[in-house]
Amino acid sequence: MSTREPSRAVCPGSFDPATNGHLDIIGRASRLYDEIIVAVLVNESKHGLFSHIERMEMLAEVTKDLANVRVTSFEGLLVDFCRTEHVKVVVRGLRAVTDFDYELKMAQMNHGLSGLETLFMPTNPLYSFVSSSLIKDVAKWGGDVSAHVPESVAARLKQRLADRYPRGAGA
Ligand code: PNS
Repeated sequence: MSTREPSRAVCPGSFDPATNGHLDIIGRASRLYDEIIVAVLVNESKHGLFSHIERMEMLAEVTKDLANVRVTSFEGLLVDFCRTEHVKVVVRGLRAVTDFDYELKMAQMNHGLSGLETLFMPTNPLYSFVSSSLIKDVAKWGGDVSAHVPESVAARLKQRLADRYPRGAGA
């Protein structure tokens, strides 16, 4: 009987916070690989709306039905994280051609650094305009983002923005 190594890929990102677009990519990737590691970048020099722990909690909640998905965090170079985790493939969503320039450079740099491969997955057109920063901006001014983020993320956003802007946005 032949045995093979389980196939694994990483879905890295800032996820501040996770959107339905992220979830779509993670879900589709989880059907292509035996194991998906969702890796949240820890960037101490950049203050996000949510801490990396909160981002991981939200991601764990919204991926809990995907048995082969694990959520963790990483600091430093993605290629070093992937080497430690024995992962050879990164999956990244491409929303539009405007994403391509930046993504191609990262993919080429990562490949040059360690041979890490990048698989680009076209985003579902339903989410092609959705980004975490747009979600935060709309939510901050009281706009409805419930169609673009999971319910639990929408609730956390509302709470966080109400705490941060008690007199206005998010209230
Ligand atoms: O969700 P984002 O912010 O588009 O994700 C970008 C991310 C986290 C994948 C990228 O910034 C990254 O891999 N950062 C880790 C540091 C690193 O490896 N930089 C060199 C990339 S070529």
